[in-house]
Amino acid sequence: MSKQIITLTVNGHPHEIAIETHHTLLDVLRNELGMTGTKRGCTAGSCGVCTVNGDAGEAICSCLSLAIEWDGRSVTTIEGVQEGSELHPIQAAFLEYGAVQCGFCTPGLIMTTKSLLDFNTSPSEEEINETLAGAICRCTGHIKVKKAVRKAAEMLREREAG
Ligand code: FES
Ligand code: FES
Repeated sequence: MSKQIITLTVNGHPHEIAIETHHTLLDVLRNELGMTGTKRGCTAGSCGVCTVNGDAGEAICSCLSLAIEWDGRSVTTIEGVQEGSELHPIQAAFLEYGAVQCGFCTPGLIMTTKSLLDFNTSPSEEEINETLAGAICRCTGHIKVKKAVRKAAEMLREREAG
């Protein structure tokens, strides 16, 4: 197998990594960088547990994206969401609303939610539903998750308002 060196910035920290060209972004995050917050589920783009945010803050299924395509680029993972010693408002809202049970889906749901609320802190129900459509939770379903997303949006609006 041929290896190639890529530079990948994760949560603001650049890494030079020798990767197999067939490895996915998920493989590299978990196996090369030890960042296991991003979960491995279906590996087919159907469950959303592997979601990270790309250079522009967009939600990316890291199981479907080849790591080689990320040379010179940046991703944000769940490990980069906390703000210093404080939880990000999305994390705090998930806890407050009991939107976490086993927690396996939670990193993906939080990164998916972040890809919406980073750009729109007043999302409609339709926008929330569309955003969460590809992120599956087998424990709680989406009722508590949607409450948490609405609460996080409210907290972020308050922050914007100063
Ligand atoms: S593991 Fe990537 S979508 Fe399921
Ligand atoms: S909390 Fe268990 S799968 Fe979502």
